[in-house]
Amino acid sequence: MRQITFVPTFAAWQKAARRALADSLTPDEIVWEEWGVDQPALALFDEHDEFALTRPSPRFRVPKDFLAMAARVACHRDLQRWALLYRMLWRLTHDEPRLLEITVDPAVYELVSMDKSVRRDVHKMRAFVRFRQVHHAGAAWYVAWFEPEHRIIEYNAPFFRDRFAQMSWSILSPGRCVHWDGAQLSFTDGVPRSEAPDGDEVESLWLTYYGNIFNPARVKKHAMQAEMPKRYWKNLPEATLIPALLNDAPSRVRKMRNDSAEKTSGDKEGGAAVPPDSMDLAALREAARECHACPLWKNATQTVFGEGPPDAALVIVGEQPGDSEDLAGRPFVGPAGELLDRALAEAGVERAEAYVTNAVKHFKWEPRGKRRIHEKPGRSDIAACRPWLAAEFRTLRPKVVLCLGATAAASVFGRQVRVLSERGTVKASSFCDQTIVTVHPSMLLRIPDEASCKEQYESFVADLRAVGKLL
Ligand code: URA
Repeated sequence: MRQITFVPTFAAWQKAARRALADSLTPDEIVWEEWGVDQPALALFDEHDEFALTRPSPRFRVPKDFLAMAARVACHRDLQRWALLYRMLWRLTHDEPRLLEITVDPAVYELVSMDKSVRRDVHKMRAFVRFRQVHHAGAAWYVAWFEPEHRIIEYNAPFFRDRFAQMSWSILSPGRCVHWDGAQLSFTDGVPRSEAPDGDEVESLWLTYYGNIFNPARVKKHAMQAEMPKRYWKNLPEATLIPALLNDAPSRVRKMRNDSAEKTSGDKEGGAAVPPDSMDLAALREAARECHACPLWKNATQTVFGEGPPDAALVIVGEQPGDSEDLAGRPFVGPAGELLDRALAEAGVERAEAYVTNAVKHFKWEPRGKRRIHEKPGRSDIAACRPWLAAEFRTLRPKVVLCLGATAAASVFGRQVRVLSERGTVKASSFCDQTIVTVHPSMLLRIPDEASCKEQYESFVADLRAVGKLL
């Protein structure tokens, strides 16, 4: 058995390993012992410099990839890495020159895993080092604190030297520190965190900048945490902003969507709402509050979203909220709603078990004296609002849909519907295989003649009975 004590750097190990190979020492015959301040004279069998440094080291041929990988694996924290590297080296130079291609070999697998872990750490250091300016001997010096997982400070130093060649800087860490004075790199022992500055006068600028470039529409929380694991957060000044930025992201995205929809639509045709992907009616209702996809929101009190049980078998679609609904924020609570309630009860259909909504979710009106007079929604109003209706249906998936009037039918079928000729029959629409169209209850309220009103009301109830039969 041979103990090889060596300075734990890749270069020193390489020298020692070459000597061991030349002496035909098999992997099982060697104990690799790192030489360090905490073990100055532990060389039980060989003095490290006698073994490796004072004797010429012969050369052996190994694949280039192995050398690059070995240089990185040498940075790994695992003390077994030196033995593993030598085992690999031995096999590569003893009849297994293509060993690295055998990825299922346990030693190769271990080597590749260690390499991966070091590469990741190297990448994280490049991404997460944050310099703070301090004043040193009358000049600016930039100091960063980083806690690597492996011993990568030396390995990564040339990258920072090339990237920040014009600055003077230090990267401090618990194990090792690297310094660049504009001319040369130097290394010192590690220091505690308290040696590193906490902030500087430009930090608030950086935080403002970070807050501005943070794109809430591109937040992928899991990907973000995989890329920026929490263990690095404590040393990243911008990490303090992240929880609030993530929290605000959904409402900022909604606003962005609405602003852009508003810009597209202006006061003309063409805009369309962009609901969130959510399958939750409460979330959809909340998002619809801020909808500016068409200009109707400007004169309305509020968005009147649908209401009813999320597992409703029946969805009733009206035209748009009226004056009472606009004020109450709920569909069909005014005179048309009262008539609808009465007719549903007569037909044996429970309103409370149905989800009631409208094709257009803002009250469209024009002033007449002190009164707000209902104005029929146009094609562009229906089109702008249809994504909300589609989002409601995507969530509800009802068994039956009842359209009240032409506007509701146009939105649900995606085409013009002749209500009087198509009423009462079951048809497949864009949102449901069993869709029935009938007249709007407010039409019944406008019939002056009592007899025709009664007759129309009976037909209306008959249509509702057809709905009840499907349920
Ligand atoms: N008319 C409708 O179409 N919907 C309502 O919510 C109220 C009246």
